[in-house]
Amino acid sequence: MSASRETTPEIAEAVRRLRAGRLVAFPTETVYGLGADALNPESVARVFALKGRPAHNPLIVHVADAEAARPLAERWPPRAQRLAEVFWPGPLTIVVPRSPLVPDLVTGGGATVAIRCPDHPLALALLRAFGGPLVGPSANPSGSVSPTTAAHVRAAFGEADVVVIDGGACRVGIESTVVSVAGERPIVLRRGAIGPEAIGDALGESVACAPSAAHESSGALSSPGMLPSHYAPDASVLLFHPSAPPRELERSPRPIVVLSLSASFQLPRESRGPRTLVRMPTDADAYGAKLYAALREADEARAEIILVEEPREQGPMWDAIRDRLSRAAAPRANA
Ligand code: TXA
Ligand code: MG
Repeated sequence: MSASRETTPEIAEAVRRLRAGRLVAFPTETVYGLGADALNPESVARVFALKGRPAHNPLIVHVADAEAARPLAERWPPRAQRLAEVFWPGPLTIVVPRSPLVPDLVTGGGATVAIRCPDHPLALALLRAFGGPLVGPSANPSGSVSPTTAAHVRAAFGEADVVVIDGGACRVGIESTVVSVAGERPIVLRRGAIGPEAIGDALGESVACAPSAAHESSGALSSPGMLPSHYAPDASVLLFHPSAPPRELERSPRPIVVLSLSASFQLPRESRGPRTLVRMPTDADAYGAKLYAALREADEARAEIILVEEPREQGPMWDAIRDRLSRAAAPRANA
């Protein structure tokens, strides 16, 4: 497809806004991103301000292809080239040493930059028409659930000066895998649909994972404050095993939504408050695509507690889902 055929009036208007330093939310295959000109510090500052994001948490830079990534990197390691060839466009963010072209604000003052080429026709059309890199953190207030539809973005930023490009529901539904190839060994910093095994296969070496929330929370947590709450809905989230449904289910007077997986799971016949049962897909990809919308719907239904049956199955997508669930269930800094 030629660039001009892709450039619809909506994309052209979005590009005009981006060039003027304003914000455009765009769909990707993972979640919606809050886009701004990555090379314009004033635009990037608007993104941090609107999200309420701490300045030390760096942003992902989105590019149309690997060619466009290279000038952002001080060094483009052979591992980065290989991963880009195998997984781009796709849900993999690659952390590399940054070039001076990238504003400090984008990297949180760090020596590296995170880059990703999203696998979504509208995101790619926008990047090509804009002709430069765009920052694209998830288009939600910092710490809350990432948006997987345009309506989710409008619910948070409808009043702000943000245009939302509507690409429907996101296919993957949870954020990209983040892998660093900036150091001596590659390391997965955030789990996602592309697992460490697939990355290792592509590189021909084993790839480690930074400790995930799922692992930290499976043992006795010596310091719960160490577990950063993130991806969290308004309601409190509790994980449970189907053989031991939490006491809250019968005893709490507060409204509860249950996200179940086992076909055998039933709500108790009697309970002290309103209960809603949502049956989640047992297929990992379908579960991932539905998770954030389900958490939001529970908030909209004014649930005060969301009980989530913890998935037991193995595989990269389930691992990523468990990671997000553990963070959603983590103690809140402001609770
Ligand atoms: O799927 C995604 O990655 C979505 C879509 C919109 O592309 N974007 C996204 O961005 O999730 P954000 O900003 O919500 O999450 C970026 C993550 C954060 O955990 C951040 O700390 C990490 O990537 N990150 C960004 N730059 C980094 C860097 N230079 N080194 C290590 N981690 C970095
Ligand atoms: Mg985010």
